[in-house]
Amino acid sequence: MNYENILITIENNIATITINRPTKLNALNVATINDLHKAFKKLDKNIEIQVIILTGSGEKAFVAGADISEFAHYSIEEGTKLAAEGQEKLFDFVENLKTPVIAAVNGFALGGGLELAMACHFRIASDNAKMGLPEVSLGVIPGYGGTQRLPQLIGKGRAMEMIITAGMLTADDAYRTGLVNHVVPQAELLTFCNDIASKILKNSPYAIGKAIKAINANFKEGKNGYETEIKAFGKCFGTQDFKEGTTAFLEKRKAVFTGK
Ligand code: COA
Repeated sequence: MNYENILITIENNIATITINRPTKLNALNVATINDLHKAFKKLDKNIEIQVIILTGSGEKAFVAGADISEFAHYSIEEGTKLAAEGQEKLFDFVENLKTPVIAAVNGFALGGGLELAMACHFRIASDNAKMGLPEVSLGVIPGYGGTQRLPQLIGKGRAMEMIITAGMLTADDAYRTGLVNHVVPQAELLTFCNDIASKILKNSPYAIGKAIKAINANFKEGKNGYETEIKAFGKCFGTQDFKEGTTAFLEKRKAVFTGK
């Protein structure tokens, strides 16, 4: 499949998606959101792909936000539709994939860019990264889940301050607040993400998918996370991965998982 605004490379069961609009600091226009939706859907269905790394092209930005030039003249209805469709196609979509997605935040992650990084399963930042939700400075609020996911990740008080001051965090501040898991020199960012991905590759893809589902259930309205966990735990007992994992342990050898 050909994409206009993203690049995809695949190596050792790890797919790397690079958002590729460097002259616009990788700002998310609707066409890029559509490309990302199609790519994530396809990669998640591919049993060979066990981890996805998401990054931005160039050394300056992961994603500098939703494309302001596209929505500057929108009406109430168009604005509402923009947020709803974006959440459905990309932000909620990524969060609920069974394949783990790591955000490699290689520079500015602002507005929709930070919201996209927060929709990923966890985040690793380069030392030059800057993160913020500056939407109120444009007369709007975060619309791709930022008002929900930022408090989940860094706590309500910090999220409230960050959103209503339109402030930016440095990579080190983001690490201190728990927004990113690691900070590494920019030149080492993708190698570091690949090293973490390699650790994930050793584990059961089936169990990883269920763990993501159970963890996410804690943050979903009307879901009981403990019940989701019980059901997902039980299902694992019917899989080849469970048989293989436990047998390999008892036979003192490395497990070879198939994700089934
Ligand atoms: N939407 C559309 N275009 C964007 C963009 C966005 N969110 N962010 C950057 N760009 C474009 C700029 O318009 C500029 O395009 P041009 O060269 O055709 O004029 C290009 O990307 C480079 O950006 P520029 O502002 O010149 O770079 P800078 O180094 O001076 O500043 C930022 C970098 C990130 C601080 C600045 O681009 C910025 O504030 N961007 C908007 C951030 C934002 O508010 N995001 C939330 C959107 S809801």
